Amino acid sequence: MKLIKGNIVYAPALGKLVTLERGALMLSDDGTVTDVLAVPPESCEAEVYDYGEALVMPSFADMHLHAPQYPMLGMGMDLPLMDWLNTYTFKTEARFADTDYARSVYRALAKDLITGGTTRVCMFSSLHTDATLILMEELERAGVTGCVGKVNMDRGSEALRETTEQSKSETLRWLDSCDGFRYIKPILTPRFTPSCTDELMAWLGKLAEERGLRVQSHLSENLDEMALVRRLCPDCGQYWETYAKHGLWKDHTVMAHCVHSDEREREALLKHNVAVAHCADSNINICSGIAPVRTLLREGVWVTLGSDIAGGAQLAMNNVITMSIRASKMRAVQTDGRDAFLGVDEAYYLGSTAGHRWFGADGGFARGEALHAIVLDDSALPEPVCTLTLRERFERSIYLMDKSTIKAVWSEGRKVVG
Ligand code: GUN
Ligand code: FE
Repeated sequence: MKLIKGNIVYAPALGKLVTLERGALMLSDDGTVTDVLAVPPESCEAEVYDYGEALVMPSFADMHLHAPQYPMLGMGMDLPLMDWLNTYTFKTEARFADTDYARSVYRALAKDLITGGTTRVCMFSSLHTDATLILMEELERAGVTGCVGKVNMDRGSEALRETTEQSKSETLRWLDSCDGFRYIKPILTPRFTPSCTDELMAWLGKLAEERGLRVQSHLSENLDEMALVRRLCPDCGQYWETYAKHGLWKDHTVMAHCVHSDEREREALLKHNVAVAHCADSNINICSGIAPVRTLLREGVWVTLGSDIAGGAQLAMNNVITMSIRASKMRAVQTDGRDAFLGVDEAYYLGSTAGHRWFGADGGFARGEALHAIVLDDSALPEPVCTLTLRERFERSIYLMDKSTIKAVWSEGRKVVG
């Protein structure tokens, strides 16, 4: 048994925050949560991790990011999506044909993720099979868990493209090499409709069905992108149907952005239990727009958060969370308050529990589940004017924390940092 003592904070549901001052988590030897305690036992047999006055909270889940864009963080931020892709992104991703380069970038990325408290990811690699396997190795080594996809793209960009046959055979070669990974699983990843022919999409849809694989892609991010999709797929009334007609629109499919999804597209998200990865920083950086997050939530759509590096320029999920709050405030202003902005507890829920649920976890520190947690020491933050409640300390930490504030990280029941 293990006993973790500290100030316990978690968001088990949207708009609900539980705070237990000087509480504790009881774990089994393998790191599974067996109890959440308001008062730690006076004495017990367990191995004790006493985090004192620190906050112990569920870790972050980054539900949309591009690993090969890590070297171009903060670049091309003056271009809209399609120009940004063609000018910077595809050229950067093409570098990952070099496996030594991939190894060094992905080792640094994995370390940056885990020390920043992100223990679960739903991630895009590039189209390169070998670099994708290296990415999966480096994530596992660092203690990050989740899903990674070799990207499929057989049309569009000259700088970065496979033939349809290559895309199919490399996807099979990649999948055949994934069995050895314990904590990182494959996910099918057609980049977005402009990058994939109908033939490839149909093949991926069949493969998803045959092998029970999940799917991730992009949807309704930008108006020019949507106009291009309409030109490429005149048979589809809406963007989402370009995925649906090939069996890629299904339970647990993750669609990044949905900035411009109208009522009918939002209904399709809800009906098929497709999860939205909302990426506010990216949407603002490359001038895509402000996603209607409150509307999506009100309608019952599953919303999670993604950094979308390098459209997003911030890997740290606390910054992704606060950006989603700021974006929602702009939306609240634009709608005269009809779309209420996100509270910090709500945005934290989206950036942690809502993502963890995609991996099968229940809300908060649910019993029976492997621990995914961060330990935050807020004592180095500016001295507050008065004594703060635990809830105030939580809010301030989400806005002000950085790596130096994170004293320990637990991932899938294992202490991987600290
Ligand atoms: N749509 C297709 N590819 C990409 C990408 O790499 N980033 C973003 N933000 N949108 C995309
Ligand atoms: Fe993206």
